[in-house]
Amino acid sequence: MEFALTTDSLVKRFGNEATGVHALQGVSISVGHGEIYSLLGPNGAGKTTFIKCLLGIVFPTSGSGYILGHPLGEIKAKEGIGYLPENHRYPLHLTGEQVLSYFGKLSGVTEPTLSKRIEETLDIVGMKDWRNTRVRKYSKGMMQRIGLAQALINDPKLIILDEPTDGVDPVGRKEIREVLVRLRNMGKTVFLNSHLLSEVERISDRVAIMQSGRLITEGTVNDLTRTKNEYELKVSAHDGKSLSSILKEAVLREEDGQSDVAFESLQELNTAIDSLRSHGILIESLVPKRTSLEDIFIKLIGSAEVERR
Ligand SMILES: Nc1ncnc2c1ncn2[C@@H]1O[C@H](COP(=O)(O)OP(=O)(O)OP(=O)(O)O)[C@@H](O)[C@H]1O
Ligand SMILES: [Mg+2]
Repeated sequence: MEFALTTDSLVKRFGNEATGVHALQGVSISVGHGEIYSLLGPNGAGKTTFIKCLLGIVFPTSGSGYILGHPLGEIKAKEGIGYLPENHRYPLHLTGEQVLSYFGKLSGVTEPTLSKRIEETLDIVGMKDWRNTRVRKYSKGMMQRIGLAQALINDPKLIILDEPTDGVDPVGRKEIREVLVRLRNMGKTVFLNSHLLSEVERISDRVAIMQSGRLITEGTVNDLTRTKNEYELKVSAHDGKSLSSILKEAVLREEDGQSDVAFESLQELNTAIDSLRSHGILIESLVPKRTSLEDIFIKLIGSAEVERR
């Protein structure tokens, strides 16, 4: 598979070896075309530094990477990227439309394409009604949306967003999520940093968790949130024995036909189903239990903290 973005052992040290900050300590990532990939991590983990290395704003101390087939930092690599920085600020006297025109020109977009792209991007982020208002009057949510439009102005293949929903209210966040999913449906690749785990969980194909400049886990949201061997079992009302009397210690919790059960193997699970059926119990559903991304994050970050002490 060809990747939209890869890095190999990316290291970034600010300052000298002994007293400097080791912001990235060998980060290797591969992001496929058309994926939404989220990089998570506590404050100071190195997420923004990683993004800046991808963009050529910060030069890696060692390691390498490719964007859309071009080495990091090359103009060709940058041409295919749209970027929304963390805490961006636009000149306050410009209107939303002027911001887009200005950044479009900086990206080398010329007329008549520029006017067309301004219309399209304002439409994508739902800011058409505010195009002639100065950004001075924009709310945080509107600032993020115009920032997102700015990141899309050059019709990039890879969109890199540093905290895209920072400071945005729940309705605005939902809208931004919908924009990101729409972009993926258009075949774009989206790479983002976020602290908002429940949001990331809803839209990302894959996530990585970074701590102190290292990736401590990586995978699909499905794989990461799946709990090993635990299931939610729902059965129809019945007059027979209780589930725990049939399945014994496999039952972790039992309540009105809804239980949590755990099995060591698929074989054990199927034997349990046979025995429920032989007792005339009707199974309504049996689904693997999931933990939230937030629980996983707190568990991993917490144990990494303990190890460091
Ligand atoms: N230009 C710089 N000079 C020196 N140290 C820096 C520089 N930029 C970042 N750092 C340090 O590198 C580390 C990683 O910072 P970074 O901004 O990448 O973290 P982050 O994961 O984006 O955090 P946040 O969630 O708060 O945005 C921090 O210790 C930070 O102080
Ligand atoms: Mg950051």
